[in-house]
Amino acid sequence: MKKNWCAANWKLNKSPNEAKAFLQEFLAQAKKLKCQTVIYPQNFSCTTVAEQTQGTDVFWGAQNCYYEDSGAFTGENSSTILKEMGATTVLIGHSERRSLFSETDEDIAKKIKSATQAGLVPLLCIGELESERESGKTEEKLLIQLEKALTGFDTSRPLVIAYEPVWAIGTGKVATPEIAENTHLYIRETLSEIFNPETAEQTPLLYGGSVKPENAEELGSQPNIDGFLIGGASLAAESFLKIAEILDRTNPS
Ligand code: PGA
Repeated sequence: MKKNWCAANWKLNKSPNEAKAFLQEFLAQAKKLKCQTVIYPQNFSCTTVAEQTQGTDVFWGAQNCYYEDSGAFTGENSSTILKEMGATTVLIGHSERRSLFSETDEDIAKKIKSATQAGLVPLLCIGELESERESGKTEEKLLIQLEKALTGFDTSRPLVIAYEPVWAIGTGKVATPEIAENTHLYIRETLSEIFNPETAEQTPLLYGGSVKPENAEELGSQPNIDGFLIGGASLAAESFLKIAEILDRTNPS
């Protein structure tokens, strides 16, 4: 699996028709890209994205999954169904899921397990609140999130982690390259302790939080930033393509 993921988190945006229009524009130019592009559409647009990206190198996945495969869980979606639909990956533990939908680290651990068992690549999102960074509690918070989510993870399976400081998501307040790099280094070292140095080195560490074409070069040039998870700037094919092109330069495959 490539390490340089350029992933679009569309959140609750883009109907199936809008997703199709985006992909027609994006795919016309995506062939030259070397990085791993990934789209996380909202659920009802997944089928359209699956159809449009079939036969291309673009991965897609859902923004959430439930940890049970089937049963009386109204409104939920399972990893096994996602896999059957052709998804490669699933976003787990995004800060909006944690804060708006009360997802706990325990739920997240179960979701990672079910995604892995279904053969999906979990993209685990972690990050601290602004108050936690200001009071020097960033590392403590990230350690808890990593340990709780990853206990018992089978390291023979692929995993991707996105560091998304909550204060930088959708705020236009991007982490400085220094803050992002230092935090990524801490995550890499923690993965080495939880698992082993080889797994830590192989795991793609993405930065997310107000990534744009204007700041991608400096962030992508940091040694421990392997790729990006992009919200707002992934909604226009042009800016998503620009960021992917920058990643191709800073993190060649
Ligand atoms: P943003 O969102 O790029 O709009 O800050 C990132 C995310 O929530 O994944």
